[in-house]
Amino acid sequence: MVLLGPPGAGKGTQAKLLEQEFGAVQISTGDILRKAVADQSPLGKQAEDYIKRGALVPDDLITNLIAERLQQADCAQGFLLDGFPRTIPQAESLDALLMKLALSLNGVLSVQVPRAVIIERLAGRRTCKNCGALCHTVFDPPKQDGVCDRCGGELFQREDDKEETIANRLTVYDGQTAPLVDYYRRQGILREIDGVGSIEEIRSRIKKALGGIAT
Ligand code: AP5
Repeated sequence: MVLLGPPGAGKGTQAKLLEQEFGAVQISTGDILRKAVADQSPLGKQAEDYIKRGALVPDDLITNLIAERLQQADCAQGFLLDGFPRTIPQAESLDALLMKLALSLNGVLSVQVPRAVIIERLAGRRTCKNCGALCHTVFDPPKQDGVCDRCGGELFQREDDKEETIANRLTVYDGQTAPLVDYYRRQGILREIDGVGSIEEIRSRIKKALGGIAT
């Protein structure tokens, strides 16, 4: 499956819930890139400046990364692509890769939320440095300020969640990623989800939309 939607739509939050429920592994290109940056690996060094600016990392870097990742053993049970593809060339590369691996997408979930909600969600997002769990200072607050409920790790605010970088990420989404909605609609595998509401409400909408396709 692919999870599509603007920054802050709740893709990561819902992917983690779907992973627990269906056992399909979440593959977040954003998380992979941020780890590469933190490790200062060759990929991280190439990606760092793009991420800081809220720009997209070049397609070839990402498609190579995904080609390797999808062939790892844990993907055999299925996978949820969170943050990939993000451009038409990335979607075309994914189609070609899946064909080569004799796999196909069960569906593409497009989670849509208005801009004002996106800004609120990104401004309050906190991520655990240790386990990667997500929470929100207002909508899903941790029991203790700055401390992850799940593992006790330290919570941090992402560098690209600054106001001016958010604006750039949204422009990039409108120009380069939003056309994927039509791309997958034409393939007949798009399912549109209203992303406004509580995390639990969105989760039930997704489950309903998945109907019989998630196994
Ligand atoms: P990436 O990490 O993928 O960021 P993104 O797509 O901008 O998405 P986000 O992680 O910001 O949001 P989300 O939809 O996952 O929302 P979340 O669940 O966290 O990419 C970062 C950068 O990496 C890119 O800018 C680019 O540079 C690079 N990159 C990544 N992939 C790439 C690719 N394929 N090609 C090129 N470059 C790439 O939720 C947000 C907050 O809201 C959280 O605090 C959460 O607790 C809260 N929340 C969630 N749902 C709800 C709800 N229903 N109600 C209230 N609060 C909620």
